[in-house]
Amino acid sequence: MKKIALLGHGVVGSGVMEILEKNQPVLVRQAGDGVEAAHVLDRRTFPGLAYGDRFTGDFSVIRDDPEVSVVVEALGGVEPAFTWARESILAGKSFVTSNKELVAAKGDELLALAAEKGVWFLFEASVGGGIPILQPLRESLTANRVVAVAGILNGTTNFILTRMFADGMAFGDALAEAQSLGYAEADPTADVEGHDACRKICILASIAFGSHFHPQEVHTQGITRIGPRDVAWAGRWGGSIKLIGRARRTAEGRAALEVSPMLVPGDCLLSRVDGVFNAVQVTGDMVGTTLFYGPGAGKLPTASAVVGDVITALTQPAGSRPVPWGPKKEGLLQPWEESAARAMLRVAGLAPDALETFFPGCRLLGAEEGETALITAAATQGELDAALDAARAAGGNILSRITVLDQ
Ligand code: HSE
Repeated sequence: MKKIALLGHGVVGSGVMEILEKNQPVLVRQAGDGVEAAHVLDRRTFPGLAYGDRFTGDFSVIRDDPEVSVVVEALGGVEPAFTWARESILAGKSFVTSNKELVAAKGDELLALAAEKGVWFLFEASVGGGIPILQPLRESLTANRVVAVAGILNGTTNFILTRMFADGMAFGDALAEAQSLGYAEADPTADVEGHDACRKICILASIAFGSHFHPQEVHTQGITRIGPRDVAWAGRWGGSIKLIGRARRTAEGRAALEVSPMLVPGDCLLSRVDGVFNAVQVTGDMVGTTLFYGPGAGKLPTASAVVGDVITALTQPAGSRPVPWGPKKEGLLQPWEESAARAMLRVAGLAPDALETFFPGCRLLGAEEGETALITAAATQGELDAALDAARAAGGNILSRITVLDQ
């Protein structure tokens, strides 16, 4: 029996235990032996569980058990996860995590340490829940220079937007439903304000560009300001609004990263990704555009990705794949103000003629209920900021500004 240990018995951790229990024959076939969690670390106790006697509150029990070769972490948060990741790796154990906050903050350090110690640091579950995306990006698409990655990377917000706009549900009720289904973060602010999606696009971009991106440096906007009027205009334009994380390679070879609600054209498959599903669109210079789709959150989908990594760590020699990324490269990230896009605007207080002078080349969508909606011509975000300031100075009230996801 191969022995692993589990840090955290929440939604994902209990899912890992369920897969170990239910799919043991599959694991035996893949790993050549059974796989058992010898220790489960959690502050809480679960006396009713068949494996209730394996719980511990002491990480050193896991670190110092020579039979444990893989430590799985599903705690969330940077600490104590980072300290325990370092200690596990330094003790010669592979470390598998679903914790995107940890990977986005400390991925470069932990990858370097794991390479030095000859063990794995794996985190497929940190992006896209059950969707295999990181390994395909690292391996199957390795012949490509990645031109762009754009995705619906947060199941909770996609679930909320779908429930609000397909079913007319109130934001708070939809969020409560997502929480009860185990999709949301412990503090759902990270979901609705876009921070979770930002961590995930940083991980994807770090693989695509080979260097670490820090979430705090990436322009991030959540879904809390999206309302029914935005959706009504989006529908008339022929698209929908989705929270998108995007990383693009610019003509100068820089990386343009952002997270924001975007107007997605109806002919883009991302516009039809609903509910808790995630989808990641990867465009490579050789392959063209590919799409990875599946359940982006939830107990068993996320645990499925975790256990896949466990099997890799148990069966394949560490170092058989190149280290996916190194430290941050100064100057690689393009300032958001310099990135170019079209935008949908809703403006009150200015006549359509006036709007055409502030936003030359724009396309008016229509005017009703005291507001005008338009699609601007492509401009940098900095140029658009200046045009919006000028429109405000002339008495315009900017009700919303939503970037268009142009392909
Ligand atoms: N809260 C996250 C989401 C969980 O809703 O996508 C999966 O990372």
